[in-house]
Amino acid sequence: NEIKIFSPATVANVACGFDVLGFCLDNVGDDMVIRKVDKKGIKITHIEGFDLPYEAEKNVAGVSALAMYDAINVDFGFEIEIYKNIKPGSGIGSSAASAVGSVFGMNELLGRPFNKTELTQFAIKGEALASKCEHADNLAPAMFGGFTLVKGIKPLQILEIPSPEDLYATIIHPQIEIKTSESRAVLPQDVSLSDAITQWSNVGSLIHALHTSDYDLIKDSLHDVIIEPHRSKLIPHYNEVKQIMLEAGALGACISGSGPSIFSLCKGEEIANNVAQALKKAYSLITDIEFDIHVSKI
Ligand code: HSE
Repeated sequence: NEIKIFSPATVANVACGFDVLGFCLDNVGDDMVIRKVDKKGIKITHIEGFDLPYEAEKNVAGVSALAMYDAINVDFGFEIEIYKNIKPGSGIGSSAASAVGSVFGMNELLGRPFNKTELTQFAIKGEALASKCEHADNLAPAMFGGFTLVKGIKPLQILEIPSPEDLYATIIHPQIEIKTSESRAVLPQDVSLSDAITQWSNVGSLIHALHTSDYDLIKDSLHDVIIEPHRSKLIPHYNEVKQIMLEAGALGACISGSGPSIFSLCKGEEIANNVAQALKKAYSLITDIEFDIHVSKI
């Protein structure tokens, strides 16, 4: 009647794939306990780690749970405990982890009546509470694992993309908060045709490179000419951090989701660790901002 789950952090956009591409981290995330109880409804009974609302209607995990609860007809309810490790506003899918965790856990306790795409559909409601718009590029990798491409939202269509064997991510998370809604507000509504051509060529080639484990092509494809020029201004020392990552051997680096986290992709664990070491040494020389570094296999 109770399940404990790990709900992973995720990197959305992956440079060229704004709002559609994402991947899952294997060792950073929240823990949640979901419990079936006699009393009907959804109740959040415990939150640890960050100060978040207990009212289900105001909590991302609660809103997605309510969306799913409204779709089932049962004479019992669910309690949710949230042990949050991913800081809200960090750019590694904090709200998505909460939104996915509650519905995933409930579905397990119900005997899996819903598939993962249907669960993601409920989770979109929770994500929208946090980012003020419906997008699934963090939700999909949190739900499916690995790399995902959100082919469309209406109807929701999620494609699982293979990850090359030796692909690792190194992520730096400066301890400042950037709200997704704010970093979406700085984006232009229109893009030039030549930028659009560059961007979709990179998305296409990145997907091909992931399928064929072509690391050189991954390196060539990890560029963002549309979003990064606007958002990088919100992240202190962005260009320096990116440079450190590239010089330490990363295939490419860009803003993780809506920032402030910055991710790099690396071929092999050794290079990923080298990038982490280089960041540890250099970042505190550039700034006083506190930071975390994560190395994860994808
Ligand atoms: N694709 C979204 C954005 C992800 O960049 O705004 C938010 O984490």
